[in-house]
Formats: sequence, structure tokens, C-alpha cells
Amino acid sequence: MSAQEEFGIRPDEVIIELPATPDASLYFIGHIRTPWKKRADCPKNARGSEAVCTVELDARYGDGLKDVETCSHLVLLYWMDKAPRNLMRQAPGHHGGAQHGTFALRSPVRPNPIAMSVVRLIKVEGTKLSVVGLDCLNGTPLLDIKPYLPSVDSVPEAVCGWRLRKD
Ligand SMILES: C[S@@+](CC[C@H](N)C(=O)[O-])C[C@H]1O[C@@H](n2cnc3c(N)ncnc32)[C@H](O)[C@@H]1O
Repeated sequence: MSAQEEFGIRPDEVIIELPATPDASLYFIGHIRTPWKKRADCPKNARGSEAVCTVELDARYGDGLKDVETCSHLVLLYWMDKAPRNLMRQAPGHHGGAQHGTFALRSPVRPNPIAMSVVRLIKVEGTKLSVVGLDCLNGTPLLDIKPYLPSVDSVPEAVCGWRLRKD
């Protein structure tokens, strides 16, 4: 079954045709081990579970972990490999079926299915990182690891207006 068929299209969702060829390629630098084997079992977002998950970085990138153990929180970027990429308007069921633009959503369905979560680092053992704060399927490919910098990344006054209206 294709990602498109697996996700299904809801009424009012808008599909586009993607460019014939991608503009860049990337490296999967590892994989993420989580307790979740089905999308329906995954938390909806990074604060939805206290499960300890394991980031398995490929050994060739191990040198890049120097000083990572000093960080309390990390930004993880990962590749939602089971998501279709061609929806520009989506009507997520858990948002009451209302339609929103892909770029106003944290949905995995997007032209480049890159997900991000700020996770709490529990420990680093070799090239394995134990973290709390993930929402992806077991085996999801890892794209990048960055330190979370409160002085740069925290924006206490930030709002997402449509979610306020919904609440
Ligand atoms: C709403 S997204 C949020 C992802 C990330 N925290 C973000 O904000 O960018 C999380 C959902 O993506 C889905 N998902 C998880 N792993 C996936 C994968 N490998 N491929 C496609 N969808 C996935 C699950 O339904 C999960 O609840």
C-alpha cells in the first residue's frame, strides 16, 4: 500500500503535483527506536509521551557527538518516511476535520516530510542516545541532531492563532 493510500484523503483536502525531480539529496545519519509500530499508536506530538526512546546514530558520525552529553535538551530532525508528500490543504481528524494549510500544521504530510522535536536527553552511550519526547514510528530515519538553545530557540510570546481560535 502506498503512503497516499495508507493515509487516505479526506473531503476538502488538496493534492498537488510535485516537481519531477528533487533539488537535493540527504543522508540518513541513523534511526530512531520507539515503542510505536503503527501510526495510530504514536503520540500526536513530542509532549504526548514520557516513553524513553533510543536514537541510534550510525558509527561513522560518532565523532560528532563530542559534548552532546552536556546538553539537557536536543532538537531532533527526522524523516517521516511513511508520509505522502503531496497535500497542501489538510483536514486532520484530531483537529475536528477543519481544513488548514500544510505549512500551518505539524503534520508529517508535506513536500519534505521533515519532523522536529525538542527532546530531553537522558544519557549517551557510545552512539546511542536515550531521549524522552518523541512521536515517531519505530525505525524512523534520523536527519540531524542539534543542541536546544533556550536563549535562541525559546519564544515565550509565540502564538499559533488558529489553534487559539479552536481552543
Ligand atoms: C503530528 S507529527 C509531529 C512530528 C514532529 N513532532 C513535528 O512537530 O514536526 C507526529 C505524527 O506523525 C505520524 N508519524 C510518526 N512516524 C511517522 C513516520 N515514520 N512516517 C509517517 N508518519 C509518521 C504519527 O501519526 C504521529 O502521531
